[in-house]
Amino acid sequence: MTRSIKPLVAGNWKMNGLRAELAIAAEVARGYGAELRHAVDLAICPPATLHFAMTAALIGSRIATGGQDCSAQSSGAFTGEISAGMLSDAGATYAIVGHSERRTLHGETNATVKAKAEAAQKALLVPIVCVGETQAEREAGKALAVVKKQIRGSVPEGSTAATLVVAYEPVWAIGTGLTPTAADVAEMHAAIRAELGKALGKAAASGVRLLYGGSVKPSNAAELMNVAHVDGALVGGASLKAEDFLAIAKACA
Ligand code: 13P
Repeated sequence: MTRSIKPLVAGNWKMNGLRAELAIAAEVARGYGAELRHAVDLAICPPATLHFAMTAALIGSRIATGGQDCSAQSSGAFTGEISAGMLSDAGATYAIVGHSERRTLHGETNATVKAKAEAAQKALLVPIVCVGETQAEREAGKALAVVKKQIRGSVPEGSTAATLVVAYEPVWAIGTGLTPTAADVAEMHAAIRAELGKALGKAAASGVRLLYGGSVKPSNAAELMNVAHVDGALVGGASLKAEDFLAIAKACA
């Protein structure tokens, strides 16, 4: 945790959720009482088809919503794409960009991710820029170098604490039940903070929320959130259960 930063717990539903699952968001809202609201910010990133309805369902709850990706373009002949402005129009506050599943399955490079983050900022969304090494890169001792390069290549110049969130998600920890040690997370988050300092200036970098993601569960959240420079979590599977998502939020608070 960074004492001066209010933590953010964001749920990434990925390609899960039909209208019936809006009930999960409503249940999270019911459990997000005054004390928890004071201590931790919450966001849910549903599939695009649910975005507008979810934002409507969450009115008054102070739970934000976010897209899971956005186009680098603002409009035009880009079949199947969703612009940052469209997400904003549907009520979004955030847009995840550069998730490892996008980088791997859709060939997104650091330059692509940066362009998407810039498009998000232009539409007044806060990009949650994801970075993280593969298992092979960690085993080769390259994790720090890979992530620093992703930060340099993916984060828009001029970003501030108010316009940027970064999520460290080791690829090998996503959906596997595996997590890095607290010491490894501490080392990586300190390195990310330092790299952001070089790119954005120390003052801006010191306030940017750095989330940890990858197999965050109620059982490991407190330990992970206690690590220096961990200012919240990006939660996949566990965000689809209201009880688990709220338990993680409480561990963060
Ligand atoms: P899991 O929490 O299911 O490991 O997913 C993490 C993730 O990819 C969030 O973006």
